[in-house]
Amino acid sequence: MPAIISKAPGKTILFGEHAVVYGCPAIAVPIEAVQVKVTILPVIKGSQSIIKIRNFQRFEDIPFADLEKNNPIRVPIENIFSQIGGKPPLFEMTISSTIPIAAGLGSSAALAVAITKGVSQFLGIQLSLDKINSLALQSEIIQHGSPSGIDNSVIAIGKPIYFLKNSPIVIIEIPNSLNLILGDTGKRTLTRNVVQEVRHFLDTEPTIVQPILEKIGKITDNGLNALRSGNLEEVGELMTQNHKALKELKVSSPDLDRLVDSAMKNGALGAKLCGGGKGGYMVTLCESNTLEKISVGLKSAGAENLIQTSINASLSKE
Ligand code: PMV
Repeated sequence: MPAIISKAPGKTILFGEHAVVYGCPAIAVPIEAVQVKVTILPVIKGSQSIIKIRNFQRFEDIPFADLEKNNPIRVPIENIFSQIGGKPPLFEMTISSTIPIAAGLGSSAALAVAITKGVSQFLGIQLSLDKINSLALQSEIIQHGSPSGIDNSVIAIGKPIYFLKNSPIVIIEIPNSLNLILGDTGKRTLTRNVVQEVRHFLDTEPTIVQPILEKIGKITDNGLNALRSGNLEEVGELMTQNHKALKELKVSSPDLDRLVDSAMKNGALGAKLCGGGKGGYMVTLCESNTLEKISVGLKSAGAENLIQTSINASLSKE
């Protein structure tokens, strides 16, 4: 049997993080420049299934049986196993990832999607995109508590999406490519904690927080129109407005603000934090002739890593 190989990209949120948890829309795009890769082979000679982790942070072999019940690798594998009757075959799974963990780029959702796709193929089960997405969401719920579902959706679909909880997902057709630079503050935070802080802020100060969430919802809807009409100046302007609203929600940090300011000073169309915030990465929308200047500026403003990528217009075509 040839090896099964399955991959899933990272993601960034262009508009609407946090507000999406409370029923506002959000827009996310896949980031192909970083990815999780899963390779699966049947075990012919051994007596147990093995997980081989091969990424920039870890390099180790672990018997599958030793993984804890809620382990983010074990959960999506068992979700698929529960779809078949009888004992699953022994397997050797190698996982490598270039998606930084706890940085707002969807590492856990990408792991769940790549494993779900790979294991179902290994077992010869045909799963629809919707099913892959809902199984990945189950893993996300175990890892993150109450995620909106935007991360697993954009990663499973692999195209720019407009996402509203409990509504059909809309794939966005973007007429022109988007040049993005993602800048790393080097700080790592757990989205689950920042989401809890926002919930506490909303519960204690609803008259302050509710209007901020509504403002973010409006920015996202305007962002959808600007993306569809190819008005990148407007997209950038709205991203920067979104960052200001996220600052009001208290999910930014001095490092994120410094990187956003640096990008804007060097000619970015727009810049904002992305994902949970308080650290992790920020995202910058750039014209192609400013990429170099903005990258140099971000580095000297303290960015520990940069990911330069573009969202191709063709990616959004169905
Ligand atoms: O930090 P990330 O990449 O997991 O993004 C989270 C986005 C939030 O809106 C803050 C949470 C969610 O579940 O949508």
